[in-house]
Amino acid sequence: MRNLKIALIVVVVVLLGVVAFAKYRDGQALVDHGVADGPLAVAGTAAERGRYLAAAADCTACHTVAGGEEFAGGVAFTLPFGTIYSSNLTADADTGLGGWTDEDFVAAVRSGIARGGRHLYPAHPYTTYAGMARNDVLAIKAYLDGLPAVKHAVPASELSFPYSQRGLLPLWNAFYQPPVGFKSDPGHDGNWNRGAYLANALGHCGECHTPRNFAYALRSEQALSGATTRGWKAYDITSTGLAGWTLEALDAYLATGHAPGHGTTAGPMKEVVAFDTAQLTADDRRALVQYLLGSHQAPAAPAVPIKSVADPASLGANLYAGTCAGCHALDAGTAAAAPGDLRGASSVRDPSGTNVLRLIAEGSPHGSDAGAAMPAFARAYSTAERAALANFVLAQWGGLTPKLTPNDAEAASRP
Ligand code: HEC
Ligand code: HEC
Ligand code: HEC
Repeated sequence: MRNLKIALIVVVVVLLGVVAFAKYRDGQALVDHGVADGPLAVAGTAAERGRYLAAAADCTACHTVAGGEEFAGGVAFTLPFGTIYSSNLTADADTGLGGWTDEDFVAAVRSGIARGGRHLYPAHPYTTYAGMARNDVLAIKAYLDGLPAVKHAVPASELSFPYSQRGLLPLWNAFYQPPVGFKSDPGHDGNWNRGAYLANALGHCGECHTPRNFAYALRSEQALSGATTRGWKAYDITSTGLAGWTLEALDAYLATGHAPGHGTTAGPMKEVVAFDTAQLTADDRRALVQYLLGSHQAPAAPAVPIKSVADPASLGANLYAGTCAGCHALDAGTAAAAPGDLRGASSVRDPSGTNVLRLIAEGSPHGSDAGAAMPAFARAYSTAERAALANFVLAQWGGLTPKLTPNDAEAASRP
């Protein structure tokens, strides 16, 4: 009995300590540890700079529903524990940010604390935006303030317990929110710092390319080393992962979504290119590319052509000839050109077939060039046929002999 009492007291004291710690960190989360101005030289009025920075930070992709009003919110994010919707960022007084002060906005974007102290879920990537310079965040506000106010009430989030409790978020933040503010690294030149800012504070490349721990927080010690996010594999983009890319190829991929010998971007990355990296000035994009490649900038050895090991009599080969070859010609030497050129793509060289199966199921409707979009085949083909198609694609273009099953195809069509 006595032991139980002591144990209870210990538990209560520990809990109170944790709560006090979280409260303390919550106050600290608003302290700016950096300088007011960021490393990018963007010309123009605050609103013009804000427009550029909002693109570089990819705010649009998450806060605009495809075909909907710009920045009116409502994009659904399906997480392992429920669904959450992005907010309306237009100046509407009832459903948007009308009446928000500069402090309100900066705290929401960088610290995840919205007006009135309501905590945001890290689905809004404040752990990344923590590194943004204050004046850059305010420029984005100036830009948003100038857009038409749209009345659009966003659905409430639907999360299972305990994730539904916003009050628990300070606890998570206490462990995983980095200090807020931008500081340049004096050990590197201006160009490197610009690239780092574009990749790690604005571009939030890590939100998809960095693996997460059990608490859904980014593992900073494995930054950009590859992860699976929302069913898509975002490959290793550290300088090691990008060892086969030249400066020109990576620049072309981030500018246009295609690089000869590296395929064409699909899925969520297609959106990142369209809304973000394609919008950067040539100079800023070059800084990003140089930062990513690091010292691995020597021209890569000419790629050894991959030898097909596909069986031309297989079910996959037959389906491919009838359905896919029109856009992805088998005779790569003649007809295949961007964006149908599959040679060298990471997706066709990945034995798990994750992105290939997902593409076959969902198609690639993202981005702006709807004309060239790849259709979805989840209805047209059974899971067995989709697995056969993927096995053929990996054998034909990746020189691999995977044994993907109908179960794999089924898993790749779940949200
Ligand atoms: C990866 C998707 C994503 C990106 C990128 C993103 N947001 Fe968000 N944002 C969200 C989601 C989801 C919410 C709602 C979070 C919640 O309800 O807890 C949100 C909430 C917000 C809020 C709070 C609004 C309110 O009414 O409480 C602000 C302000 C905001 N975002 C601004 C921005 C800005 C500015 C950018 C670009 C610098 C940006 N967001 C980029 C997903 C995103
Ligand atoms: C919303 C998630 C998401 C974000 C944010 C994101 N990526 Fe990606 N990225 C992906 C996915 C998924 C793929 C695989 C696409 C495919 O298979 O066609 C990918 C592929 C790539 C590739 C090709 C790698 C290869 O081996 O083929 C590069 C390079 C890349 N991303 C760079 C970036 C950079 C730089 C940023 C930040 C500016 C970024 N990504 C942000 C999801 C993302
Ligand atoms: C109407 C033309 C069209 C058809 C039909 C089509 N695709 Fe695609 N596919 C594309 C385009 C365009 C892309 C590039 C992504 C984008 O722009 O959305 C692509 C991308 C891909 C990729 C990813 C390339 C990369 O670099 O990661 C694979 C794999 C693929 N398709 C396989 C298939 C298979 C298998 C079929 C048949 C079941 C098929 N496609 C049918 C147009 C098509």
